[in-house]
Amino acid sequence: MAREKEDIFSKVPEMDYTEAAAKTDFDAFKAVVESRRSVRVYTDDKIPEQVMQDCLDLALLAPNSSNLQAWEFFWVKESKKKQALVEACLSQPAARTAAELVVAVAKTNTWKDHSKEMLEYFDKSSTKTPKSAIHYYKKITKLAYNQGPFGIYGIFKRILLFVIGLKKAIPREPTSESDMKIWAHKTTALACENFMLAMRAAGYDTCPMEGMDSKRVKKILGLKQKEYITMVISAGKRAPNGIYGPRIRFGRNRFIKTV
Ligand SMILES: Cc1cc2nc3c(=O)[nH]c(=O)nc-3n(C[C@H](O)[C@H](O)[C@H](O)COP(=O)(O)O)c2cc1C
Repeated sequence: MAREKEDIFSKVPEMDYTEAAAKTDFDAFKAVVESRRSVRVYTDDKIPEQVMQDCLDLALLAPNSSNLQAWEFFWVKESKKKQALVEACLSQPAARTAAELVVAVAKTNTWKDHSKEMLEYFDKSSTKTPKSAIHYYKKITKLAYNQGPFGIYGIFKRILLFVIGLKKAIPREPTSESDMKIWAHKTTALACENFMLAMRAAGYDTCPMEGMDSKRVKKILGLKQKEYITMVISAGKRAPNGIYGPRIRFGRNRFIKTV
């Protein structure tokens, strides 16, 4: 078992599955990324239902930690809820003038069920699942993500990982609900970017917003404990005054290092 645990990260599993890389268009992608701006004022144009659904589907294709899909996206359409959401977004024009509003929620309370679901999926799959993947969702996810009642396992884990980590490389986090929050937010934020780029590719614009009252947003959506607002994303067609100025980025050498 100890050997299996070690191999799970380092060994390439034996598989009967291949997937060829699709042909892509770098210039088209560049145009999408470069033309995405945070838009604060939108026109009255509507976004077709299918465009929203397609872009939400593409959000769900984002890479995500352990494929546990610790996210949820609420497309808020009901008018009273939408008005309350605009107010919870401090009535910023980016929310107030938007055709659509989506709330991205990071969840630390679904990893156990989703681990089980992965195993069920493997069970039914026609492709052979590597043993290491089954071991991962049976055992490793529990070790990694279960922080125990009042975070007690997390505290033990931190001490244990410190000791093991003196001798070899070992994943250090998550060992608390705060770490779990970061874990889920990372995954959800990647999906948010997918959504925003997809909207741009479809000819629409977006604005990510953390300028909002998360407590009120949670209440509007009826969220439970361990469900956190990553951001609210507004969407629509950009108005002529929708972008507040040219894009500013500091010199790349400051942020991109070759070491
Ligand atoms: C997590 C996050 C939260 C943000 N919150 C707001 C917000 O509440 N209101 C707003 O107008 N813009 C918000 N923005 C947009 C940023 O101000 C914007 O991305 C930044 O100024 C760079 O401009 P660009 O997106 O046009 O490249 C947010 C962006 C991110 C990633």
